[in-house]
Amino acid sequence: MATHSHEFSAAREQLQALVGNRARGAQDLLDRFDRWGEDLIEGLRGAYDLGYIVPKLIEVMAASHKQRDAELVQRDRERVLQPDWFQRNDTIGYVCYTELFDKDLAGLNSRVDYLRGLGVSYLHLMPILQPRPGANDGGYAVMDYRKLREDLGTMAELKSTAKKLHENGISLTLDLVLNHVALEHEWAEKARQGDPHYRDYFYIYPDRHMPDQFEATLPEVFPDFAPGNFTWDDRLNGWVWTTFNSYQWDVNWSNPNVFCEFADIIGNLANHGVDCLRLDAIAFIWKRLGTNCQNQDEVHSITQALRSFSRILNPSLIFKAEAIVGPAQVGAYLGEGQRSGKVSDLAYHNSLMVQIWSSIAAKDARLMELSMSRFKAIPNNTAWGIYLRCHDDIGWAIDDHDAARLGLSGHEHRMFLADYFTGKFYGSDARGADFQTDAQSGERRTSGTAASLAGIQVALESGDHNRLQRAIDRYICAYSMIFGFGGIPLIYMGDEIGLFNDDSFVNDPAKAEDNRWLHRPKMDWDTAIAAADGNLGHSVAGQIRSRMQRLIDTRRRLESLHAGVATKVRAGRGAGVAFFDRFHPAGNMVQVYNLNDQNRFANTDELSGLYGEVVDELTGQHIWLNDGIMLAPYEVRWLRQA
Ligand code: GLC
Repeated sequence: MATHSHEFSAAREQLQALVGNRARGAQDLLDRFDRWGEDLIEGLRGAYDLGYIVPKLIEVMAASHKQRDAELVQRDRERVLQPDWFQRNDTIGYVCYTELFDKDLAGLNSRVDYLRGLGVSYLHLMPILQPRPGANDGGYAVMDYRKLREDLGTMAELKSTAKKLHENGISLTLDLVLNHVALEHEWAEKARQGDPHYRDYFYIYPDRHMPDQFEATLPEVFPDFAPGNFTWDDRLNGWVWTTFNSYQWDVNWSNPNVFCEFADIIGNLANHGVDCLRLDAIAFIWKRLGTNCQNQDEVHSITQALRSFSRILNPSLIFKAEAIVGPAQVGAYLGEGQRSGKVSDLAYHNSLMVQIWSSIAAKDARLMELSMSRFKAIPNNTAWGIYLRCHDDIGWAIDDHDAARLGLSGHEHRMFLADYFTGKFYGSDARGADFQTDAQSGERRTSGTAASLAGIQVALESGDHNRLQRAIDRYICAYSMIFGFGGIPLIYMGDEIGLFNDDSFVNDPAKAEDNRWLHRPKMDWDTAIAAADGNLGHSVAGQIRSRMQRLIDTRRRLESLHAGVATKVRAGRGAGVAFFDRFHPAGNMVQVYNLNDQNRFANTDELSGLYGEVVDELTGQHIWLNDGIMLAPYEVRWLRQA
């Protein structure tokens, strides 16, 4: 028998007194406390005084447990028995704004068959909790975590939507914005009224003394439209910490009451059937003077505590970390050392996304190989969220040291990528837009949809058939890597039909200054349905849909794409081809991606031991490898020994 800390034993006793142990659900809860209670205590110990927080949190847990309905209790049991549900090869993700997808939750409900037809089993609905009126950072300025945006539906409808999704084999992800709340949130309102309890929920300073000291080492997230990290507020009579926009107030996570508030919010969302919470801007939640106030160790203690809390209370819920940080920092979000496998279950693979675009622009896989080699193994109960595009801009996160190793300048390469993807570079058909230019270095981030960045929009307008076909092939090549890497592939809404940039946002004053809306187009249902029905033939949307469908169907068949094994990325000798090795007991696979608009040859040395007769899983074609294999421009092969 393991010996337990006295905090554990006291908490266990308190929990049992509150929930009893006769009901089946209560016994399950206590069993899970036995399994994960110490992880909870350890996480809390890293950031808080245990004497204060533990009893308070156990009360939150017991109250939330009593609200959990029988169906979700059953879902908890199933997920505990199949903890790798999100790692499996048949997990296919889709990300959308409810209102842009089909107006509201009722509209979404009417499209569940469409999602199923595509093969989707994981749906992320972009922010839908009640945001502040007017500009709200695409919903990331939440005013009420217990209400839905009125135009989208009610909490009761959220629950019935989750139920319908579950019945169709689809899990539901929502955003949990935990670094900040809208200035109209009731905590902020009470702080502004002078309530000391709520003033402690924020970082408030009477003068510039502390803000200036912090600013000395703080970067700026939105230098163009929200310069600085602090905002003066007359009613507070002080400077409040605002990392993002001035209307997004950072909450003070060193306050245990804030932790308990969010634990309660998590319990409530889970009780509405939410399966996964995307932890928005998680890297920023702990502040430390003299640092950039990102990735602090306490962030991981807090995540471990929240995660363990959920494992005990509602184990069918998982966490996805939105930590857009470098290879050296991102591993900690999935857990390193003592915290291995105890923090988030998923994390975005931002570096891979950047490297895919970079390798396509440079027609060269060497930087991708080097950058991917920087990643340590991730815990085998976790997975990456793999994506080509999302709702945010692309920050060209090219590491200076990696670039230097290849004789490149990091700065020059970042400038090249920003030029290339805004079509300024000679020969580029990409059509993106600059986002947040850094005044000193001239470096810029980029907005634009995947199809527009891949050059399809410009090529289509040119009327040049070959150019268009190349662009579509380039796009599919990039997306193939998303489906082939292992981890949850996240299809960004409309990418299955290649939606282009939409500049109508400039007419809406609440959106006009933020060109990330360029790549948040409204779903085109006529095209989507026709493409799904196979009625669009060889058109852009028709081709993209049918080729993406093939990738999805192939992936769903191949157990070896389970996230539990890692992908090794290699640049071949000629550098213009990327190789992804996946060694899995269910069958090894070598994926080959020609990054060039010309033929390339991959020889048998580069094919990691494949020889003789091989099968291309994407086409079913059997190929005899003599010296190797010839690849057409942007051709993709997923090869296995026959
Ligand atoms: C995340 C979101 C981004 C938002 C920011 C602040 O990075 O993805 O859209 O602006 O957090 O909430």
